[in-house]
Amino acid sequence: MSIESRKIDHLRLAAELPQSMASGFDDVMFVHRTFPEVSFAEISLQTNVAGTFFSAPFWINAMTGGSEPSAQVNRDLAIAARELGLAMAVGSQRAALRDDSLRESYTVVRKENPGGIVIANLSAAATIDDVLRAVDMLDAQYIQLHANAPQELVMPEGDRNFKGILKGVETIIRHCPVPVIIKEVGFGMCRETYRQLTEIGARIVDVSGRGGTNFIAIENQRRSEWPMDDLRLWGQTTVVSLLEAEGFQNQLTFLASGGVRNPLDCIKCLALGAQGVGLAGFILRTYRSSGLQGLIDCLQHWLHEVRVIMTMLGCRTLQELNAIPVWIRGETADWCEVRNID
Ligand code: FNR
Repeated sequence: MSIESRKIDHLRLAAELPQSMASGFDDVMFVHRTFPEVSFAEISLQTNVAGTFFSAPFWINAMTGGSEPSAQVNRDLAIAARELGLAMAVGSQRAALRDDSLRESYTVVRKENPGGIVIANLSAAATIDDVLRAVDMLDAQYIQLHANAPQELVMPEGDRNFKGILKGVETIIRHCPVPVIIKEVGFGMCRETYRQLTEIGARIVDVSGRGGTNFIAIENQRRSEWPMDDLRLWGQTTVVSLLEAEGFQNQLTFLASGGVRNPLDCIKCLALGAQGVGLAGFILRTYRSSGLQGLIDCLQHWLHEVRVIMTMLGCRTLQELNAIPVWIRGETADWCEVRNID
């Protein structure tokens, strides 16, 4: 199975499979106050991720590249990012590092958006050499290193050995010229992972939790026999992953993704301490169903509604939103009790 045909399968299955699981966002509640005492006009959506200002608190997360259909998708997503001032990550660039003819399916993102924030992407098992080439390919401001052990293990042709990855990530962090974001792919993170990451000098994580795109379900569809359906609920939700960050906020910048369905979910991530929110499956499905202009209109509406909710909450800035109290119920509250999270 070539990387190219796997990428095509992923795009198709991620768009087609239902978002079946509880993402935890419905367990997070705000208390409405009658007098917000702010004006819609003074709301700022700006966020600072390790020293660079993003004009919007959400972005297009890593999805694709490395095949002909994905070149078209990346071009259109880059146009949407440019039109709305959103940052955008590409999918894993491994394919282009192996085969020069696939570079354009990634570089099109920088070509369409020369002044924008573009985020490179490789596996956490990559070498520093590969990382330097991937950043250079896109003139990227950041690189995401994705860790996806469950996906690899369920994928028939996936990796089986995960030894030494943290050591490699430590080397990359030390030598990479741009900030490194350590990222999950929809299985979430926990405090034990945050501790390991702080020990190797990591500064930024994208918790990318369970509840949206589910790579165990996707890889199960691609297996010809013995699907591992019992693993479909594996991992922590995005909400739980952010709650697990308690005690690490001074050492790590937390970014959220995984199962974000609407502007309210996005606001909930920010209220739980995230500095920004990545959208993948939602973007792909909207693009598939409504095309480029439909996606731009939808995300334009998101920018508006995020401001609406911030006004209702009386928060002028993301810093104020980060500090607002939230109430947690249901399975997420049970998790907090078991794990002793305040
Ligand atoms: C992804 N994701 C991903 N992540 C990554 O770091 N490198 C990659 O190459 C890919 N590839 C990829 C392909 C497709 C089609 C999708 C939908 C997703 C994972 C993505 O960035 C994100 O972490 C998860 O999808 C969870 O977010 P959503 O989809 O629930 O919003």
